[in-house]
Amino acid sequence: MERTIGTTRLVLVEGDITEQRVDAIVNAANSRLAGGGGVDGAIHRRGGPSIMEECRRIGGCPTGSAVVTGAGNLPARWVVHAVGPVWSGGKRGEDDLLASAWRESLERAREIGARTVAFPSLSTGAYRFPVDRAARIALGTVRDWILEHPDVLDEVRVVLFDRATYDAYAAALADLP
Ligand code: APR
Repeated sequence: MERTIGTTRLVLVEGDITEQRVDAIVNAANSRLAGGGGVDGAIHRRGGPSIMEECRRIGGCPTGSAVVTGAGNLPARWVVHAVGPVWSGGKRGEDDLLASAWRESLERAREIGARTVAFPSLSTGAYRFPVDRAARIALGTVRDWILEHPDVLDEVRVVLFDRATYDAYAAALADLP
């Protein structure tokens, strides 16, 4: 499923983030940039040790923000490590922190000159953010950012690992104003 906003394509696909041939892929990282399971584990496993070496030099990244490293052996050129919030009921600023993680990732992509960027579903795995709510926040944030930054990105691809997550993002995209 896809939609064009200005000159930027917003595309949803079911797949694996580590296989995407785009300028930058986004990692669902933690604030210590210490690695983990899920997306983070897959990126470090397939990308090789150079990514963790750079993460160690950077040291960390606050929740709601994002930092850039190279992509090692991955087909992408850069990895944008975004730190989404841990869900803890919704009253601790989780919505704003999730929006911020998406926005900051798009900012990092713009700063490095990426034209194509692929995101996973930040925070909806180990961090337990409800997926329908996350999908609406994520795609609304992408849309607003694209409208504020016309002609910066050719494609924002959201790569969903399973059908249920894909369906949640497809519903959110269909409802997007
Ligand atoms: N490609 C795309 N999506 C994937 C992949 C993959 N290779 N592997 C897992 N996913 C999906 C999950 O199914 C989920 O829908 O990505 C979504 C995000 O899940 P997590 O990777 O668990 O990310 P998050 O919820 O943000 O938790 C981050 O988990 O691995 C640790 O170090 C990481 O502490 C951090 C936390």
